[in-house]
Amino acid sequence: MLKLCVLVSGGGTNLQAIIDRISDGTILNTEIIGVISNNRNAFALERARKHGIPAICVSPKDYENRELFYQALLETVDQIAPDFIVLAGFLVAIPTSMVKKYQRRMINIHPSLIPAFCGVGYYGLRVHEAVLARGVKITGATVHFVDEGTDTGEILMQKAVEVLAGDTPEVLQRRVMEEAEWKILPKIIAMVANGELEIGEKK
Ligand code: GRF
Repeated sequence: MLKLCVLVSGGGTNLQAIIDRISDGTILNTEIIGVISNNRNAFALERARKHGIPAICVSPKDYENRELFYQALLETVDQIAPDFIVLAGFLVAIPTSMVKKYQRRMINIHPSLIPAFCGVGYYGLRVHEAVLARGVKITGATVHFVDEGTDTGEILMQKAVEVLAGDTPEVLQRRVMEEAEWKILPKIIAMVANGELEIGEKK
C-alpha cells in the first residue's frame, strides 16, 4: 500500500482528483493518510475531512519565525510517515532539510510546461497571465520531483493544452486543470503505486 501525504494551500481540486481516482480504482493500492495545509481556511482541508482523511493545519502564523514553522511542518510530515509526498497547490517553499529527507519521494504539479513560465513568482493565476501576455499558443502542466530549487526538479510527466483566442487567465487556468493537471497528477501516483516509477534515492 502506497501511503500518501498531500500538501495543499487552496481549493484542493488536484487533491480531489487524487481522491476520485483512488475511489474509482484508477489508482490502486494507495491511501491518502494525511493532508496538511499552511492555510487554515483552505477548502482542501474540508475536502479531506469529508472523505475521512486526517486534515491538519500547520500555519506560519502560529510560529515565531520561519525556522520554527519549517520545523513544525517537517515534524508533522514525519509523524504521518508517508511513502510519498504530493504538493498539490502548496504555496510554501519547501525547506532544504525536508527536500533532502524526501529526495525523489516528493512531487509537485506546476501549471505550465516547465521550463516555460516557472520559477520564483510563477504561481496560481500569475502563470496563466504570463502565458497570455507572451502570446504562446500551447501551455500545459508538469509533474516533477521536488529539489532545492523552484520548479527545477526532474520532470516526470507533461501534458500540453491549447491556448485559445479570447482566453482570460481564469478560463485558461480551468482548461489547464481539466485537461492536464487532474490527469497527469493521478497518473504519476498510479505509476508509483504500480511500481512503474521508482521512488527514493537512486542506488
Ligand atoms: C494548481 O494550478 C496547481 O498546478 C498549482 O496550484 C493550483 C492548485 O489548485 N500548483 P488546487 O488547490 O488543486 O485546486
